[in-house]
Amino acid sequence: MNPGDIQLDAAGEGPVYRRIADQIRDGIEAGSLGAGSRLPPIRSLASDLGVNRDTVALAYESLADEGLVESVVGRGTFVRGTRPGVDGEERVDVVLASGVDRLLGLDNARPRFGATADLVPFHALIPDPAFYPVDDFRRAFNRAVSEGGADLFLYGEPQGYPPLREALATRFRAAGIDAASSDLVLCHGASQGISLALRLFAEPGDAVAVEAPTYHNVLHTLAGLGAQPVEVPMGDDGPDLAALERVLARPDVKAFYTIPTFHNPMGTTTSLAARRALLEVAARHGKPVIEDAFEMDLRCQGRAVASLAALDERGLVVHLFSFSKSLFPGARVGSILARGRALDGLIALKHATDLSDAMPLQAAMAEFLKSGAYDRHLGRIRRELRTRHAALSESLEREMPEGTRFTRPDGGYQVWVELPFDVDTRELLADAARAGVVFAPGSQFNADGRASRCLRLVIARTKEAQIRAGVEALGKAVRAHRLAAGSVRQPASVHL
Ligand SMILES: Cc1ncc(COP(=O)(O)O)c(C=O)c1O
Repeated sequence: MNPGDIQLDAAGEGPVYRRIADQIRDGIEAGSLGAGSRLPPIRSLASDLGVNRDTVALAYESLADEGLVESVVGRGTFVRGTRPGVDGEERVDVVLASGVDRLLGLDNARPRFGATADLVPFHALIPDPAFYPVDDFRRAFNRAVSEGGADLFLYGEPQGYPPLREALATRFRAAGIDAASSDLVLCHGASQGISLALRLFAEPGDAVAVEAPTYHNVLHTLAGLGAQPVEVPMGDDGPDLAALERVLARPDVKAFYTIPTFHNPMGTTTSLAARRALLEVAARHGKPVIEDAFEMDLRCQGRAVASLAALDERGLVVHLFSFSKSLFPGARVGSILARGRALDGLIALKHATDLSDAMPLQAAMAEFLKSGAYDRHLGRIRRELRTRHAALSESLEREMPEGTRFTRPDGGYQVWVELPFDVDTRELLADAARAGVVFAPGSQFNADGRASRCLRLVIARTKEAQIRAGVEALGKAVRAHRLAAGSVRQPASVHL
């Protein structure tokens, strides 16, 4: 079967979308539609079959829900994979943990961004490789290996390479956090920090309070763990404290995950007063707080606000740090700061998870900090961030429809935009991609994936001129979409 062979029998029975989906599924199962085959664009299949575009979109969506196809923004819908037997034997479908089944559901719903070379990449929260100080890092690595010798290539301590812990503790103390190197566990990026901290407090069936919206991968980690997110709405000043009070009072809610500085996706910073108040709420209910400080080194203007770990006098806060956004993600170096039993638990969990991290990379990072190269790099990045944020704010003011609201972060890469009319920004994404710009739709950051009129713009990989061009294209796409949505109902999800 070729994708072009899909047909509609006028005498067939059942909903039209299901008949289309059934044919494609048959083709996939028979192996005639192989993994990677591109399904016809919705528009052209709808016109070939003489049906509404919504009908084809629905057929593709139901196949995506079954995990058989996936949509890649800007490229189309593709067959995910066949189920070939070995030597004709039926392949046995192993039973996955129920949490992993939920995780796969979330993963399938995630927009896939294929080749975006021609598009303004407002979607990617990955710092620009053009800025990576690779030569400085190579020199630091060479020095570390010459000095450390073969011992560096042994298993390390589960807590991580001591000189790097010492260097980080010194930096944290300069930021007002009472940290000793023995309070730190180094880890494989803040992602592993999140995973270990969640496992420290929650087990399958438990719940964890998260901000709404929140970093989508935390939702994925919780799903994989078999734990539930419980949302606490975000305001301009931080999480809604009355809601937090109610949520933390629930016995099944075991911890609160928060991003108080340069929130992802909102870019906002929780005020000092709100930080103190949220720690009080957490203390009243005896619930730990996981503070994700993944962009704490990326302040480009305004005054720093004390971190929750600096304000915490009760040992409630587990603080996560990462070099992924302020330097580069590839070294996979992050840290967790904790106290007392939480610290003991983390060390044991880290050891049980992967014994230790790669010592040569941690030693190189320690050398890199010691040489001053990291601070020089931060200076460059912060200057660039200031320019980019100014360009983004100006462009949003100029190009977006009246009534659009957006955040004006003092650092980090992400800005949150709320459109002034009822729209699911997943639907807007296809139009925006055609206009030359992509972003992360707000639904991605909601625990239940519900529609959102918000979107996240990231300026990590967009230079000033691109930002201006990208927002101009976005403004046009938003206006066009609003006009079109006024006349025709759009399909419920993105398919190009
Ligand atoms: C809020 C937040 N925390 C943690 C991470 C993970 O970073 P790492 O590369 O350190 O694992 C990200 C990555 O985007 C993030 O947005």
